[in-house]
Amino acid sequence: MQRGSKASDVGWRVPLADLRIDEELLAAVRDTVGSGWWSAGPRVSEFEKEFSAYCGAGHALAVSSGTAALHLAVLALGCGPGDEVVLPSLNFVAAANVVAVAGARPVFCDVVGGADLNLSPADLEAAIGPATKALIVLHYGGNPCQMEAVLEIAARHRLPIIEDAAHAPGAVWHGRKCGTIGRVGCFSLFSNKNLPTGEGGVVVTDDQELADRIRLLRSHGMTSLTWDRHRGHAHSYDVREPGLNYRLDEIRAAIGLVELRRLEAENTARRRLVAGYRQRLEGVKGIAVAFPAVGDDVVSSAHLAPVLLPEQASRDDVQKRLGGEGIQTSVHYPPIHTFSHYRALTQRLLPQTDAIESRILTLPLFGHMTEAQFDFVADRVVAAI
Ligand SMILES: Cc1ncc(COP(=O)(O)O)c(C=O)c1O
Repeated sequence: MQRGSKASDVGWRVPLADLRIDEELLAAVRDTVGSGWWSAGPRVSEFEKEFSAYCGAGHALAVSSGTAALHLAVLALGCGPGDEVVLPSLNFVAAANVVAVAGARPVFCDVVGGADLNLSPADLEAAIGPATKALIVLHYGGNPCQMEAVLEIAARHRLPIIEDAAHAPGAVWHGRKCGTIGRVGCFSLFSNKNLPTGEGGVVVTDDQELADRIRLLRSHGMTSLTWDRHRGHAHSYDVREPGLNYRLDEIRAAIGLVELRRLEAENTARRRLVAGYRQRLEGVKGIAVAFPAVGDDVVSSAHLAPVLLPEQASRDDVQKRLGGEGIQTSVHYPPIHTFSHYRALTQRLLPQTDAIESRILTLPLFGHMTEAQFDFVADRVVAAI
């Protein structure tokens, strides 16, 4: 069996993201499979304990995906029909979808613009209206957004902040881990994330009441888990309110425990690579590397390496040329307000998002990228424009 990078399995010379597979990881999976208990149990509890300690959060609840984490946050905060939730359009569609599925209306705000792909606090505030029930903020690519301004706006309007921290495990804003700054933080453990388990997510909060509600909603509204009953810790259960099955399983939690212990090293390696892209590409042929200004006391988790192509370049052509050489690229993201379902619901103008959306290109990034892979990508990107 092959160990190490699995890029070769899918045919890219340099994939966008890549998993590192080694004996420690395989042993953790093997032990868990052999334990005879695969659904939520002791490894999930241990993962939650370690994740909350790592983030400095009062509570961490492991769930089945980042989307489930966002859905539970939106439901637990009581967002429903008649409510609006403000969020940046330049995000993965999950944040808007969970709001819509809960029966509320997503209202999109703009980004700062230029090479700053995070939300504009001024436009976030402009999007708040009498029906606004919550704000969902994204730390794009693991770069903390302007939380000082966001916290001030949220406090003034008495609105809870949900942090979509899918990209930001380990990112730090003024000594606080991203995801723990607002009322509730949502992480994704999808395969391409900095802390991958395949599928999975985590909700963090310091709010005991909210944590209790999310714990119930995560598992059918039931007051005990099958694991509790298996251990003889509970014999029956009550259902307090209708809920879902958004639990994480033991196998993924075992992977998560290994990956969590590797996260700091992974993030450090990623930051070094992003700095390398900046050194090699910034200003060359009109390329701008996103997030040029990292504020004092702010640390990115460097989940993505987005660049802005020069205005005259065709992104499609650049992607095709790079793809032809075995370099996988992507676009994070087609703005949500441009999708057919959301286009009809969108009333606000988002000029900064519209101005940059066709120029954003995400380059390959993963901690164990080799120097040869990095050099190849940097050279070929310049040649492709
Ligand atoms: C910013 C952002 N939010 C939410 C999600 C949803 O997470 P998941 O794929 O784990 O459901 C993702 C996942 O790709 C994401 O990138």
